[in-house]
Amino acid sequence: MSRSESSSSTGSLADTSSSVPDQVAVTNSQWGGRFSESTDAFVQSFTASVTFDQRMYRQDIAGSRAHASMLRQIGVLSEEDLASITRGLDQIEADIAVGSFDWSVALEDVHMNIEAALTARIGDAGKRLHTGRSRNDQVATDIRLYMRDACDAAAVVCSRLLEGLLSLAASHTDTIMPGFTHLQTAQPVTFGHHVMAWFEMLLRDLERLGDTRRRLNSMPLGAAALAGTSYPIDRDITRELLQFDSLCENSLDAVSDRDFAIEFCSNTAICLMHLSRIAEELVLWMSAQFRFIDLPDRFCTGSSIMPQKKNPDVPELVRGKTGRAYGNLMTLLTLMKSQPLAYNKDNQEDKEPLFDSVDTLLDCLRAFADMLPAIQVRKAEMRMAARDGFSTATDLADYLVRKGVAFRDAHEVVGSAVAYGVQHSQDLADMPLDVLQGFSAQIESDVFQVLTLEGSVSARAHVGGTAPQAVTAAITRARSRLATAYMPN
Ligand code: ARG
Repeated sequence: MSRSESSSSTGSLADTSSSVPDQVAVTNSQWGGRFSESTDAFVQSFTASVTFDQRMYRQDIAGSRAHASMLRQIGVLSEEDLASITRGLDQIEADIAVGSFDWSVALEDVHMNIEAALTARIGDAGKRLHTGRSRNDQVATDIRLYMRDACDAAAVVCSRLLEGLLSLAASHTDTIMPGFTHLQTAQPVTFGHHVMAWFEMLLRDLERLGDTRRRLNSMPLGAAALAGTSYPIDRDITRELLQFDSLCENSLDAVSDRDFAIEFCSNTAICLMHLSRIAEELVLWMSAQFRFIDLPDRFCTGSSIMPQKKNPDVPELVRGKTGRAYGNLMTLLTLMKSQPLAYNKDNQEDKEPLFDSVDTLLDCLRAFADMLPAIQVRKAEMRMAARDGFSTATDLADYLVRKGVAFRDAHEVVGSAVAYGVQHSQDLADMPLDVLQGFSAQIESDVFQVLTLEGSVSARAHVGGTAPQAVTAAITRARSRLATAYMPN
């Protein structure tokens, strides 16, 4: 559910006068006993989270099933109660899945909606489910279960993207392009090497997701409201059923911290930062000024006024979505800042930014996983651009050093040759030998081997270098690194 949908529960901006309510809300039966008047109608919708936390219904029901089984095993629930609870939860889950469940804002959140529906369907056994549990440990458990699935889903699509990058790189181990620093032509590189730089960035993002998943897979259930419970619960039974690796060791911490949500939003922000860098290059490269690549029409849109336009909307949008990913991270950091132990209602605000980060990450990874393997590479243009920018100047300097010239002197010599080339619109490789020799007597006819683009890239054949054979070897290693990068357990 989007934020706009969720915020509609408090009415449109034009409705702000209703902050002094003229209607009286129904009494909340979940805590009615202590209260002498009904919740203010506006407060009821203001404090409700059901519009956005209902997306955790599967996790909430799974948590309840496990809790009920544990209560049965310690003798708190009868066999009949457990059977009706399980049957009731099954029905509720099926109804929610097909959209025939009536969510009620009066029941505040996903937890109380499901519990109230359970009691309505099975009677008193439903009221016994909440024994030894609080919504505080319940919600903390639900989010962790949800985030476990979110990490797994993101890892699947991130891996698909990484595999796509490996095949793109493999088809271009010897495609030459200019490498840039300061966006000025620096030295020739292979396009495969450039793509493998993207691979490295995103592989770390995948590993970060695995780290986060490993850390968050610890179970809060049993912490109850904040101090634990006086029932003789066996947390290990519930942990096993819910497939958590460990138990949260401290009840106060278990119900209150949301650092794992911050971690996920941080991972998303970093990953979107990486995707925005790739996006920026794609946008630049598709321009008439670069013409390095073309994107298939299905990833672009046109202009309603300029018939010639084909716009790289998908990379632009991914670049733009980085902003919301950063925003969500800031929101959660600020949400947690200075919160005293233990649970505070502030924490209800964790879900919308977190879910938005989940959706944004999944969508952006998917968009790139679909699009990147399909980019059309204009090899001739890339090569031409690499030739035009004096990209082998460093190679000439290195050549002179090999002939006995000190590097600083060689740098000076090549600088003069480049200045000459700029003046006469001539690349180093196109200058006649006698012209080159005019800059340094050490230059001989073998100089042209190092001035070629192929000579330049293949000279960098060490691990991490841009030579075709180095890139091929890097791709081979990358395949096995990818296979073990996301190791949740
Ligand atoms: N909807 C609440 C949340 O998202 C559930 C926990 C409420 N607990 C409480 N004591 N009010 O955090």
